[in-house]
Amino acid sequence: MIHLEKVTYKNFEAITDLTIFKSQYPFVADNTESLAEAYLAVTSGEACAYPFAVYDDETPVGFLMIGYNESSIEENAPEILKGNYSIWRLMIDKNYQGKGFGRETVRLGLEFIKTQPQGKAEYCTLSYNPENETARKLYASFGFVETGDMDGDEVVAVLKL
Ligand SMILES: CC(C)(COP(=O)(O)OP(=O)(O)OC[C@H]1O[C@@H](n2cnc3c(N)ncnc32)[C@H](O)[C@@H]1OP(=O)(O)O)[C@@H](O)C(=O)NCCC(=O)NCCS
Repeated sequence: MIHLEKVTYKNFEAITDLTIFKSQYPFVADNTESLAEAYLAVTSGEACAYPFAVYDDETPVGFLMIGYNESSIEENAPEILKGNYSIWRLMIDKNYQGKGFGRETVRLGLEFIKTQPQGKAEYCTLSYNPENETARKLYASFGFVETGDMDGDEVVAVLKL
């Protein structure tokens, strides 16, 4: 069964060892970089990051990072990120893709966001590479709607909480 666990010293290497297909490299930062960003978000005192290891029973299969107020640490970030939650990073290891794990991870991520751990917000935001059709369809199926804004070279989409 798919579930989320905190990233800790214990599972850190298993999570940073997870990989995606080469063709997917433009779609997501590697997990080590994401964890560094999580540290910067937290130490800035202005943003918040919740990095999660995704497990299928005992097996680490992916990484999910939920954000809050992500715009405060990103230059030129879209206004909608301010005071809202975000699905900041998502990846499923190449050996475990296409089994429904990505969909279940998004569902669990939204369940976590709906507990509003940093206080009440109106939206969950995210962004994806315009060529990432799999991500676009996956997020749209949860009700995410494109805003017309770009975050760098990525398309921004939001879900009203
Ligand atoms: C996007 C990603 C997380 C999806 O994870 P996954 O476990 O493979 O996804 P699932 O098996 O849950 O499938 C989710 C949907 O995507 C579709 N899908 C999955 N892989 C696909 C592929 N290679 N091509 C087309 N559709 C695909 C599935 O059919 C499914 O749709 P359905 O539920 O309507 O049938 C994974 O492909 C990934 O890690 N990609 C690289 C990183 C990335 O793009 N992250 C998102 C950044 S915004």
